[in-house]
Amino acid sequence: MEAAISQTKPCLLSLPSIGDSAVGYITVSEASKNIPFEVKRVYWTYYTPQNVIRGFHAHKALQQVIFAVSGSIKFTVETSAGNREEFLLDAPNKGLYLPPFTWREIQFSHNAVLLCLASEHYDENDYIRNYDDFKSLD
Ligand code: TYD
Repeated sequence: MEAAISQTKPCLLSLPSIGDSAVGYITVSEASKNIPFEVKRVYWTYYTPQNVIRGFHAHKALQQVIFAVSGSIKFTVETSAGNREEFLLDAPNKGLYLPPFTWREIQFSHNAVLLCLASEHYDENDYIRNYDDFKSLD
């Protein structure tokens, strides 16, 4: 499957679940096929308490596709154009594509494990961590 997704707006991707309830499922991410970039980095977060909201940043260049491989994760995102939207990752085959300049706030269920496929290596200079700075971008 070719990546037929907008690369300018956050959007949900529904990847195929191969298998059935008798044997379980497998979902596959393949760079430049159903993920719209070459993956340079993978990270995962876990054990975030339910009352903690993480994120509060945007990136200048980084593109990401994010999965809740366990539990559920709610994203509240804001684009540089000022559009706010909520996305719920509540199945392991659902991915959230985040283009550059997307502010995100992230809330986890108690058992959630977030898996992120990232287009760039880690670079603290790529972060916009101040909301006023984000809002003052052209
Ligand atoms: P951060 O991206 O701020 O996490 P969140 O948005 O989930 O709150 O990262 C948390 C910390 O981990 C921060 O000190 C930077 C560090 N970190 C790395 O060293 N490498 C990485 O690839 C990532 C994603 C984070």
